Formats: sequence, C-alpha cells, structure tokens
Amino acid sequence: MKFGFAVVILILCYSFLEAKDWTDETLKACLECHGIITPGIVNDWRISKHFTVARVGCTDCHTGKERSDTFSHNGFRIHSIPTPENCKRCHPEEVKEYEGNIMSYAYGNLIYNSLFKELIKNVNHFEGRPLTEEDSCLSCHGTKLEVKGVKKRETPFGIMEFLWIDGWPNTGVGRLNPDGSKGSCSACHPRHSFSVEIARKPETCSRCHKGPDVPAYKIYTVSKHGIIYSSKKNDWNFCSRTWTPGKDYYAPTCATCHMSEVRKNGEIVAKRTHMVADRLSHRLFGIPYATAYPKSPETYRVKNRADLPLLSELSGEPVQEYLISKEEQTQRRNTMKSICSVCHATSFIERHFLKLDEAITTTNEITRKSTEILLSSWDSGQAKMADGIFNELLERLWVEQWLFYANSVRLASAMGGADYGVFDGGRWDLTKTLQKMKEWLKVLFSLTDIKKTGK
Ligand code: HEC
Ligand code: HEC
Ligand code: HEC
Ligand code: HEC
Ligand code: HEC
Ligand code: HEC
Ligand code: HEC
Ligand code: HEC
Repeated sequence: MKFGFAVVILILCYSFLEAKDWTDETLKACLECHGIITPGIVNDWRISKHFTVARVGCTDCHTGKERSDTFSHNGFRIHSIPTPENCKRCHPEEVKEYEGNIMSYAYGNLIYNSLFKELIKNVNHFEGRPLTEEDSCLSCHGTKLEVKGVKKRETPFGIMEFLWIDGWPNTGVGRLNPDGSKGSCSACHPRHSFSVEIARKPETCSRCHKGPDVPAYKIYTVSKHGIIYSSKKNDWNFCSRTWTPGKDYYAPTCATCHMSEVRKNGEIVAKRTHMVADRLSHRLFGIPYATAYPKSPETYRVKNRADLPLLSELSGEPVQEYLISKEEQTQRRNTMKSICSVCHATSFIERHFLKLDEAITTTNEITRKSTEILLSSWDSGQAKMADGIFNELLERLWVEQWLFYANSVRLASAMGGADYGVFDGGRWDLTKTLQKMKEWLKVLFSLTDIKKTGK
C-alpha cells in the first residue's frame, strides 16, 4: 500500500517537472512512467541534442508504421526497437550512406558466405547454438532480430505484455531488423544521448576494432595521433557542428580520417560521410589477400574461378570484376590524403602511402607462400580439404597468417602503430608462422613415412 502511494506521489511530481513543457499527451504519458521506471533513459535523453535543441521526443522514434516489433503498451502502439528506418525521417542522408557500407552487411557477409560459416563453426566449436553465435561473432557483426511472441510480466504499474525477440539485445553494425533495415545506429551513437561527441572518440570504435584480426584501435592508441589524443582530449571540443582540425582539435581520431567533415581554411576538403568506403582505396582486411576495394558491400555474393566466395584467387590474383578501378582507387586515396594535408606536408604524405603500398605487396607475398604450403599439404594428402579447411593445425596456422598477422601489418602501416606491424602480431609472427608451417608439413610427411614403412 505504502509503496503504491509513494509511486503515485512520485509520478505526480515527475509528471509536473518533466512533462510541463510538452504539449503532446502521448509523450507526457511516456515521461510520467519512464521517469520512474527507467530514469537512466529519460535523463540520458534530456542531455541529448534531440531534447535540448530539436525537441525530438520518445514517440518520434518509438512510433510509426506498424511492423512485427510494434506492440500495445499502455494504450499506445509503440516500436520496441527503433531502427534506421525511424531515424530516416529526419536523417535521410546518414541512413542512405550507411546502407552503402560493408558494415551494414556484416551479418550477411558472415552468415551467407559458406566459407565464413565454416570458420564460425570452427572458432565456436559448436554449430546450431544460436545463443553462442549471438554472444560470439554476431555480437559485433549484428544478429537477425525475430519477434517470437509475447510474454506477460508484473511491473510497478501492473501486469504488462512485452515482446520476446530472438537476437536481442544487440547493437551490431549489420543487425537485420524486423522492418528489413540493416544495422543499429546505436553501434556508434549509444541511446539515448545519440551524441556526436561519443561517435568522434576512438573508444567507440574500439569495441569492435581491437582483436588480433582487426587491431585498428590498438594501433591508434600507440600511434602519434592516439598519444596526442590521450594527452589533450580534455582541451578539445568534440561537440562543435563544424569540427575543425587546428581549431577544435589538432590530431585526428578514427572519425576524422574515416567519417567527419574536414575543413582547411574554411573549405571542405572531405565531406562528412556515413559511407566509410568513400575514403578507402584498398580492402586491407584480406581474406586471404588484400585487394582493391570491392565495388559492392555485399562481399558474400562474389565468386572466384575456383567457385569460392573470395575477392582473389588462392594464387593471390585479384578477381577484377568485383573490384573498383585504378582511377577510383586514386580518387579515394586523394580524398584521404587531402585530410592528412591539413596537418602534414605533401612529401610526408606521399612517403607514408608508399610504405603502405609496400606493406600490401609484402604481406600478400608471405600469404601466397603460406597458401602454397597449405595447397601442397592438401595435394599430398597430409592435410584434408574435404572435411573443412579450418580444422587442422596446418590450416589454422594458415588462417593466422592472413587473419591476424598480415592484417595487423597492413593496418599498422596505414595508421602508424609500429609495434603491431613488427613484433606484436606483425612481421615477426608472419615469418615465424611461415617457418612453423614448413616444419609441420615436414613432420607430417615423416609421420606418413613411419606409418608406411613401420620405422
Ligand atoms: C503506465 C506506465 C507506462 C507508460 C505510460 C509507458 N510505459 Fe513504457 N514501459 C513501462 C514499463 C513498466 C516497462 C517495463 C520496464 C522493465 O521491463 O523494467 C516499459 C517498457 C518500455 C519499453 C521496452 C519494451 C521491451 O520490449 O522491454 C519501451 C521501448 C517503452 N516502454 C517505451 C514507451 C513509450 C515510447 C511510451 C510512450 C508512448 C511508454 N513506454 C509509455 C511503463 C510505461
Ligand atoms: C532518437 C530516437 C529515440 C528517442 C527520441 C527515444 N528512443 Fe528509446 N530507443 C531508441 C533506440 C534506437 C533504442 C534501441 C533499440 C535497440 O537497438 O535495441 C531504444 C530503446 C529504448 C528502450 C529499451 C532500452 C533497453 O536498454 O532495454 C526503452 C525502454 C526506450 N527506448 C524508451 C524511450 C523513452 C521513454 C523515450 C523518451 C524519453 C525514448 N525511448 C526516446 C530510440 C529512441
Ligand atoms: C523527428 C526528427 C528526428 C528523428 C526521428 C531523429 N532525429 Fe536525430 N536529430 C534531429 C535533429 C533536428 C538534430 C539536430 C540537432 C542540432 O541541431 O544539433 C538531430 C541530431 C542528431 C545527432 C547529432 C547529435 C549531436 O550530438 O550533435 C545524432 C547522432 C542523431 N540525431 C542520431 C539520430 C538517430 C540514430 C536517430 C534514430 C534512432 C535519430 N537521430 C532520430 C532530429 C531527429
Ligand atoms: C558494433 C561493432 C562495430 C563498431 C562499434 C564499429 N565497427 Fe567498423 N566494422 C565492424 C564490422 C563487423 C565490420 C566488417 C563488416 C564486414 O566485413 O562484413 C566493420 C568495418 C569497418 C570498416 C571497413 C569496411 C566498410 O566499408 O565498412 C571501417 C573503415 C570501419 N569499420 C570503421 C569504423 C569506425 C571509424 C568506427 C567508429 C567510429 C567503427 N568502425 C565502429 C564493426 C564495428
Ligand atoms: C569484436 C568484434 C568482432 C567479432 C566478435 C567478430 N568480428 Fe569479424 N569483423 C570485425 C571487424 C571490425 C571486421 C572488419 C575489419 C576491417 O574491415 O578491417 C570484421 C570482418 C570480418 C570478416 C570479413 C567479411 C567480409 O567479407 O567483409 C569475416 C569473414 C569475419 N569478420 C569473420 C568473423 C568470425 C567468423 C567471427 C566469429 C568467430 C567474427 N568475425 C567475430 C569485428 C568482429
Ligand atoms: C560506425 C560508426 C557510426 C554509425 C554506425 C553511425 N554513425 Fe552517425 N556519426 C558517426 C560519426 C563519427 C559522426 C561525426 C561526424 C563528424 O564529425 O562530422 C556521426 C554523425 C552523425 C550525425 C550528425 C550529423 C550532423 O549534421 O552533425 C547524425 C545525424 C548521425 N550521425 C546519424 C546516424 C544515423 C541515423 C545512423 C544509423 C543509420 C548512424 N549515424 C550510424 C558515426 C557513426
Ligand atoms: C590518420 C588517419 C587515420 C586514423 C586516425 C585512423 N585511420 Fe583507419 N585507416 C586510415 C588509412 C589511410 C587506411 C587505409 C586506407 C586505404 O588505403 O584503403 C585505414 C584503414 C582502416 C581500416 C581498414 C579497412 C579495410 O578495408 O580493411 C579500418 C577498419 C580502419 N582504418 C579503422 C580505423 C579505426 C577503428 C580507427 C580508430 C581506432 C582508425 N581507423 C583511425 C587512416 C586512419
Ligand atoms: C589534425 C591534424 C592531423 C591530421 C589531419 C593528420 N595528422 Fe598525422 N600527425 C599529426 C601530429 C600533430 C603528429 C605528431 C608529429 C610529431 O611526431 O611530432 C602526427 C604524426 C603522424 C605520423 C607519425 C610520424 C612519425 O614521426 O613517426 C604519421 C605516420 C602520420 N601522422 C600520418 C598521417 C596520415 C597518413 C594522415 C592522413 C590520413 C594524418 N597523419 C593526418 C597531426 C595530424
């Protein structure tokens, strides 16, 4: 009884403070309850530009066209999970650009690619366990959301019904949403502040770009840029609309080089983009080889001559029809270089990218040598291709060559984190693992000899 009374008083106080300046009755209702039941959400929203500048309320994102995640909630029809489709009404450009990213296809690029599906199985050790998959690869790549029914639950406001949704919670970059849209804007703009400040800070990207396969964040933290960021970030202005290098900050973050608008003397040298490929000439993340950037973000649709869903042949030869042209590569690299030119001299920039091109050539060459060892082990029957290509020691060593070490060297070269290109998962490990592959193949041959001859 006492609890109920306290709740009512609280609601009245809250509704007065919170809802007094809103005329929308629906929104008032949301605030009355949610100020109490989820005060974290309401306060987070109150500091957002959505509240302070634009007066965008709960209903602007949580209501709209009926779809599978729409449910009845205290007299309102609301979306349980606002998607890019809900943001599109006010941010059509960002939503359209984001759809062009490899990131927004991160679910399909894994799950619809037969080779990568096999990789998932081998890393997880299990197959057909959806909760394990959600917790592992799909935590970053994004899950497939499917509404599976309703569940009743007791709340301080009485019994209510809520949806039970497979694949949720998840804020992966390529999440497949109930309305068919892809991705989750909260991957970089966590709800409910939806802030540009958070998105501009490198920690936001670190969640997914940190492992030995994708060490961009680790590289950044030891790069000169990252060092300056960590010392000086408190003096920088991450909220300004025109985020100007030389004024609001003076060393780039991930956002600067990959997404932000960059101005030099008031003129835009790189326009703001939610399509990161606009500035990328190469697909450095090589499976197994680095190539020019793919034309389409749907990498699972490609086929090489051996009918494998890869952008290159196993010999390293790129499958040109799926890749952007040389001219397009030059144009994208020039966009990237123009960003560097706000703070660096031309000769500095030219030599930096020469080193990157060299790193692409040399890492691809070591990958090719490793692939030859693997192919010869399959040819000679020392390893078996038919039972899967990621489950034997030699095959796993081969995977480490490109997935971990070659990628690490290239990313370190691109973004200036020397140790990750040399001794910490870099060239040292590439050459050591090449040696290991050779030696292990020899061991396999001698074991076969012993089996055959009995000595
Ligand atoms: C009568 C009180 C009340 C009102 C009015 C109300 N909510 Fe809720 N809402 C709740 C409670 C209670 C929960 C459950 C919280 C929990 O699970 O701890 C909830 C949960 C939610 C959820 C999460 C759903 C899920 O799947 O778990 C969303 C989204 C939501 N409310 C949005 C809104 C919006 C938008 C409005 C205004 C249109 C609104 N609510 C109005 C009480 C209310
Ligand atoms: C700018 C759009 C936007 C606005 C405004 C907004 N929401 Fe949300 N809300 C979202 C998104 C996006 C999610 C996350 C859905 C997901 O991807 O899981 C979410 C999630 C939620 C959840 C579930 C959170 C959880 O972690 O369990 C609740 C509850 C909720 N919103 C209530 C509210 C209330 C109450 C308001 C108003 C104070 C509000 N929202 C305003 C977009 C919005
Ligand atoms: C009803 C219109 C509306 C909807 C729906 C909406 N926004 Fe916004 N949003 C705005 C406006 C207007 C601003 C600009 C505020 C300003 O001038 O700074 C803004 C600003 C932003 C910003 C920049 C905030 C900052 O810190 O500068 C982000 C990020 C953002 N919105 C993301 C989203 C996402 C993600 C969604 C969907 C989940 C969404 N918005 C839905 C109207 C909307
Ligand atoms: C929730 C996880 C997640 C977050 C957060 C994230 N990324 Fe990604 N990113 C991915 C995944 C997964 C891919 C690969 C998709 C694929 O290959 O199918 C990717 C790909 C990329 C690519 C290259 C491919 C492309 O065209 O999309 C760039 C560049 C990138 N991310 C930059 C960033 C930056 C910068 C940030 C922070 C502002 C960031 N990412 C935040 C998961 C994330
Ligand atoms: C911590 C976040 C994270 C997790 C967990 C994760 N990935 Fe990724 N994945 C990424 C990022 C980031 C990229 C993009 C790297 C780049 O573009 O340089 C990526 C890209 C890929 C790609 C390239 C797809 C393409 O064609 O574009 C494959 C394949 C892949 N991951 C496989 C896996 C597998 C298999 C698992 C689970 C065993 C997994 N990933 C788990 C973050 C993650
Ligand atoms: C990979 C990370 C990432 C994802 C995912 C992402 N954003 Fe952003 N967003 C950023 C960054 C970084 C900025 C800041 C750009 C700048 O500095 O100019 C930004 C800025 C914005 C702005 C502010 C633009 C302005 O005029 O100030 C809006 C609006 C926005 N994003 C909407 C969205 C919407 C909608 C989605 C989902 C479709 C989304 N973002 C997904 C990283 C991301
Ligand atoms: C000084 C500018 C700069 C900064 C800062 C920076 N990058 Fe990069 N990044 C690059 C360049 C240059 C490339 C290579 C572009 C090319 O040649 O295609 C690259 C490549 C990448 C790729 C590889 C895409 C692929 O195709 O595999 C990813 C992913 C990435 N960066 C993520 C990040 C993340 C995450 C951060 C922050 C932790 C970050 N970058 C910081 C300049 C930068
Ligand atoms: C906003 C300014 C700014 C931008 C933009 C910028 N940098 Fe830098 N960069 C710096 C500063 C400051 C340093 C530290 C100089 C020093 O070593 O004293 C630095 C250092 C570096 C270094 C380390 C050099 C060394 O001595 O080892 C590399 C490499 C580098 N930048 C590459 C790039 C590339 C490539 C780009 C564009 C993709 C870029 N930077 C964009 C400010 C910037």
